[in-house]
Amino acid sequence: MHSKRYFIQKNKECNAMQFLVIVTSLFAPFLAVKSDSSIYGSWEPVIPRSDGGAVGQSLGMQTVHSVLLPSGKVLMTSGSSWRNLGPVEFYPDFPNPKAGRGIWNKDQDPFHNSKLDEYYQLVNNAGVYDPKENTFYRISHPTPVDDPLVKDHFAPNDLFCTGHQHLPDGNILFAGGTQYYYPYRTGHRATYIFDWKKELNITWSTVDWRLIPEPLAENPWIFSGFMERGRWYTSLVPLLDGRLALFGGYVGFDVGYPEMYQFETNSLVEFFDPSLFETNNTQAAWTAVDVKASPNGPFTSLINQPFQPTPGVNCDDRCKLDNQYDVFKLYPENYLLDDGRIFMTREGDWVSMRTSDTAHMRRTNRTYFVTIKETKITFKPGPSRLDEATSYGTSFLDPNSQSIMILGGQPTSSGTFLYQQKENYYAGGRGSRKLEQFHLSSEHWTIDRNFLDEDRTMHSALILPTRQVLIINGANYDFYGPIFYPILLTPRYNDQNAFIGYRKQRMNVGVQPRLYHNTAILLPDGRIWISGGNSARATVRNTIIPQQQTNITQQPKPNLDSVDLDMYFIDDGPLGRHQKGMLGVPTEIWAAEIFSPPYLFIDGNRRASIRDIQLLTPPKAYNYKSVIHEKTYYLLKSNKNYNIILDGLPMRCGKSIASLVMIKLPSNTHGWDGGQKFVELPYTVVPSNAINNGTGQIHLRTPNAQTANIPPAFYMLFYVDCKGKPSEAQMVRFDDRAQEL
Ligand SMILES: *[C@@H]1O[C@H](CO)[C@@H](O)[C@H](O)[C@H]1NC(C)=O
Ligand SMILES: *[C@@H]1O[C@H](CO)[C@@H](O)[C@H](O)[C@H]1NC(C)=O
Ligand SMILES: *[C@@H]1O[C@H](CO)[C@@H](O)[C@H](O)[C@H]1NC(C)=O
Ligand SMILES: *[C@@H]1O[C@H](CO)[C@@H](O)[C@H](O)[C@H]1NC(C)=O
Repeated sequence: MHSKRYFIQKNKECNAMQFLVIVTSLFAPFLAVKSDSSIYGSWEPVIPRSDGGAVGQSLGMQTVHSVLLPSGKVLMTSGSSWRNLGPVEFYPDFPNPKAGRGIWNKDQDPFHNSKLDEYYQLVNNAGVYDPKENTFYRISHPTPVDDPLVKDHFAPNDLFCTGHQHLPDGNILFAGGTQYYYPYRTGHRATYIFDWKKELNITWSTVDWRLIPEPLAENPWIFSGFMERGRWYTSLVPLLDGRLALFGGYVGFDVGYPEMYQFETNSLVEFFDPSLFETNNTQAAWTAVDVKASPNGPFTSLINQPFQPTPGVNCDDRCKLDNQYDVFKLYPENYLLDDGRIFMTREGDWVSMRTSDTAHMRRTNRTYFVTIKETKITFKPGPSRLDEATSYGTSFLDPNSQSIMILGGQPTSSGTFLYQQKENYYAGGRGSRKLEQFHLSSEHWTIDRNFLDEDRTMHSALILPTRQVLIINGANYDFYGPIFYPILLTPRYNDQNAFIGYRKQRMNVGVQPRLYHNTAILLPDGRIWISGGNSARATVRNTIIPQQQTNITQQPKPNLDSVDLDMYFIDDGPLGRHQKGMLGVPTEIWAAEIFSPPYLFIDGNRRASIRDIQLLTPPKAYNYKSVIHEKTYYLLKSNKNYNIILDGLPMRCGKSIASLVMIKLPSNTHGWDGGQKFVELPYTVVPSNAINNGTGQIHLRTPNAQTANIPPAFYMLFYVDCKGKPSEAQMVRFDDRAQEL
């Protein structure tokens, strides 16, 4: 758990960077003493048990998408990871290399049925980590289904840059992802449900993850229908009625639509209603609404007149017209407000690399309110942001200030070149230090341009059970200048107990550089899972299709040499080789780390736990408690009374800061956890059973989910004790419609 042990572990992937950090840490005592875990937190490397798919600390895969399952495990997917398929031109072998074309080129007909095996090898990057058992198993990627619109072809289902969000039953909906990389990045239409209970039934150690699963084999992935059009970078907003609403993303080359132009954004809002889902009628759950002509919406808000396309970009008349208007962002950071409207902050993605002159990146400070009644969608303009929306500023709905906070992010730019060792390195777009806040009650924005210590982009902001917020990962630029220290924001209060702002504290440094495509999520034990990172584009050296293998007792290890990680960007696209990315950073980071926030070091090993939850005097009893694979889960409903039995409480406290909170399960990609949502649950101490010898009971009257804005879903329920140390989370499903878990 402590840094000493850490440095003994050799990380195959990142010796040079580790060396830097060791040197820094040797000098650290002279700079500032930053070792006390109870103040600065503590890091540990993740070295999974050897019987899974990991090789030492290397997971053997990039992890662009991370989701917490109700079982407490972390599901990671990456799909094809925007790698290139060799041969690729590199500097200095080629003085003027051509940019790689990514893996799926439209002119090579990559989705023909005859190419399915090769396709599967290239997209097959998925794994599950169990923090309790310290196991990491590679798991199958979803199997493509037949394309109903193109004879003899399968429907692409690459999970790279897919959108994901939990359904009320804890399963996860994955929507879209990469269709082609060339002639440009486009989205596919396929969607899949990941079934977390099925995952628990599979003994992954005996599964050869390299093979397409047999049709009748246990498989956690369920095909869940096609969206109307492709989506590359979509976000999903959970609604109070259990539906998910999908926004944004580039369309694909979609049959039945005019040929897409480059950077064409999907103007449909789509709904997935899990209560209508049937495996033999996968379209039943889907409804699409085109908002292209909706008044006051982004697609009818003129921002960019006249529009001059970038020479060389496929921009026909439709493209020129559309680019005069605003548009949905990529991975738009949208929030369901208490009054039922969805607020579109306009933060999201539009990174530097996509056009060298930024002409197609919308410059806008507009925001929008969206009202959804069944499938009727209306827009109202929101207050303008005080600065143009950035890319990859991370955001969260702050329970302390009652605002949406947007931190850091890249102002629209074509990126920065750095001159080092006689070569031009491409660093990407530079981040910023700003905090922009949308205040929910007054509906206005404020800005602090120097909130962060240094420019940051590609980071996440995670709400912790203690109402603290951890800003973690990221870098000065998307592809350069990693920032190794998290910042812990701790709320400050005045004498009347009103929130008056945050105390900022730098935490101890991690080891791995977490550039573009990193993820960070809160685990049920209160620690933070951190993985992934991209400094440039890797190259696939070979695609050997493994032979059918049966009766294995241990997972085959990934071939770590099948992907070339030693390269860097010399330009906005072209690659150089014979050196790990800039300043020794590998192209993809395959090692994971875990950060323990300071709260875990309160009172040594003592830790409160939620021993049981009891439904009281039920007028209408329901099956509120289930055991699944030896773990207990509770189903909570609105306006009901529960007693919660606690153990491991401190014997004595000064001023009590105890609380009971729920945090929705995380779902993180591209520097934003769009899953997390913090709900504080007021409670009373049960007097007849006052806290006694470390045990106690509290009484919870649950709020009304509709008025308290609690979408039906799984949440981590934490009891934070009077000293400020959170219990491990009890997984609960808060859902008024469910009859059982
Ligand atoms: C898991 O296995 C159990 C026992 O065989 C079975 O009852 C259950 O339906 C399975 N769950 C899923 C989701 O397949
Ligand atoms: C929009 O952002 C620009 C650039 O920062 C700023 O100059 C302008 O005042 C903003 N507009 C509004 C309406 O806030
Ligand atoms: C599976 O492998 C074990 C150990 O190698 C062997 O004893 C057993 O016969 C094999 N079973 C099958 C069905 O091949
Ligand atoms: C208090 O708890 C400790 C540890 O569980 C136990 O040994 C002790 O007997 C308890 N004392 C009382 C008075 O219940």
